[in-house]
Amino acid sequence: MEQQQRKGLRLVLFPLPFQGHINPLLELATILHSKGFSITLIHINFNSPNPSNHPHFTFHSISHGLSETEATTSDAISLITLLNIKCVEPFRECLASLISNALDEPIACLISDAMFHFSRAVAENFKLPRLVIRTTSATSFGVFPAFPLLLEKGYLPIQDSRLEELVVEFPPLKVKDLPVIKMRDQEKFYELISRVVSETKASSGLIWNTFEELEQPALDSLTKKLSIPMFPIGPFHKYNLAYSSSSLLAEDQSSISWLNTQPPVSVIYVSFGSLAVLSEAEFLEIAWGLANSEQPFLWVVRPGLVHGSEWLEPLPNGFIENLGGRGHIVKWAPQQQVLAHLAVGAFWTHSGWNSTMECICEGVPMICRPSFIDQKVNAKFVSHVWNVGVQLEDEILERGEIERMITKLMKEKEGEEIRCRVSKLKDMALSCLKQGGSSYKYLDSLVNHIQSLGHSNL
Ligand code: UDX
Repeated sequence: MEQQQRKGLRLVLFPLPFQGHINPLLELATILHSKGFSITLIHINFNSPNPSNHPHFTFHSISHGLSETEATTSDAISLITLLNIKCVEPFRECLASLISNALDEPIACLISDAMFHFSRAVAENFKLPRLVIRTTSATSFGVFPAFPLLLEKGYLPIQDSRLEELVVEFPPLKVKDLPVIKMRDQEKFYELISRVVSETKASSGLIWNTFEELEQPALDSLTKKLSIPMFPIGPFHKYNLAYSSSSLLAEDQSSISWLNTQPPVSVIYVSFGSLAVLSEAEFLEIAWGLANSEQPFLWVVRPGLVHGSEWLEPLPNGFIENLGGRGHIVKWAPQQQVLAHLAVGAFWTHSGWNSTMECICEGVPMICRPSFIDQKVNAKFVSHVWNVGVQLEDEILERGEIERMITKLMKEKEGEEIRCRVSKLKDMALSCLKQGGSSYKYLDSLVNHIQSLGHSNL
């Protein structure tokens, strides 16, 4: 009955066009659809999701307006900055047409990726309430509002001489763990973050793919700083719903058939997400570290992962054959299924937030090697606060150290203790979704919040 009352309210969702943002947004769409809302997605014609995988949703594609050079840059920050300028008009036009055609089914609100800060002004123009979704951890986002202070105190921009210094405002983060990215024009990054923070503060609420028990201090502090309602309703992918894949690359199912041939809790699953890039030297150290560890491994080598290479060319001749079936390399894996497989004993990850949540939910220990921004904070919290993984901290990747970390996690007492802790965290994550659990309650309050926004908007 509750669901029927909600029929007639539509939500418009607006994802940032990157894999790590599309996945949680489509999972959120599935959750809200299960609560009786109709779903429309406005997406940019760049890394577009496949509408035929999501027949219950309506999709509208808008032009990104980028030149070919702009669209093929590997500099994600410049790309996001440009999209926030070039998408304003196409987004405004699309929203105007949706609003004018939505007579039978009013639009309750817009749910925008927080990185699309321009959507605040557009939505406000139409007097449309706007919620945002932030796809990272609350803990890493919690550092962003303090950037002016961190700049004033000289922690930022990061100087090599201060890398090991504790940031007293954010223990246990050291200067090297701060959520920044190396780029030529650092000002551009600070400017983007400052806009994202101020336009998030101006939203009607913030949705998180996390659970309160994991990130309570960061959530409390953000509630105070931003003065908006927070809805930590994660882990998104563990609601008992029929999710469809939103992978932009084809998922190689041989990952699962290969895992089926491996002993329980033996395989190191290795993946660095959708954006990270490795140098050829790093790639080779990883390959030899994995080979020398003598543990079986499943390794996702995304085309383009290795700077200057198409795929596996840097590997020495005969590398794979000499493993005797102990290693399996794919371009993209069905990651959630992989992590849930009994054969997987550890995940070597770049500490992207989706990967971290997916891993916690399967009770798998992590080896963390973050690349940039939020990943650095996630890795520190995984290894030093939640204690469910270890971090490869040295700037230079070295095969001997990789082998030592794998042995520590797979064969030593410390690894056993970590496995025990992550298994408890998994139980905690899953119980949040049950009736009376924190995420269950926050989802109820999110639904009520959206309804009240929708009605005040009629
Ligand atoms: C980056 C950030 O680091 C992340 O924290 C932020 O929230 C989004 O942008 P990304 O590099 O894509 O994300 O990593 P991650 O957040 O871990 O997301 C990757 C997604 O791709 C996960 O949902 C994972 O399951 C999926 N994936 C990855 C696959 O399905 N197959 C693979 O082979 C690898």
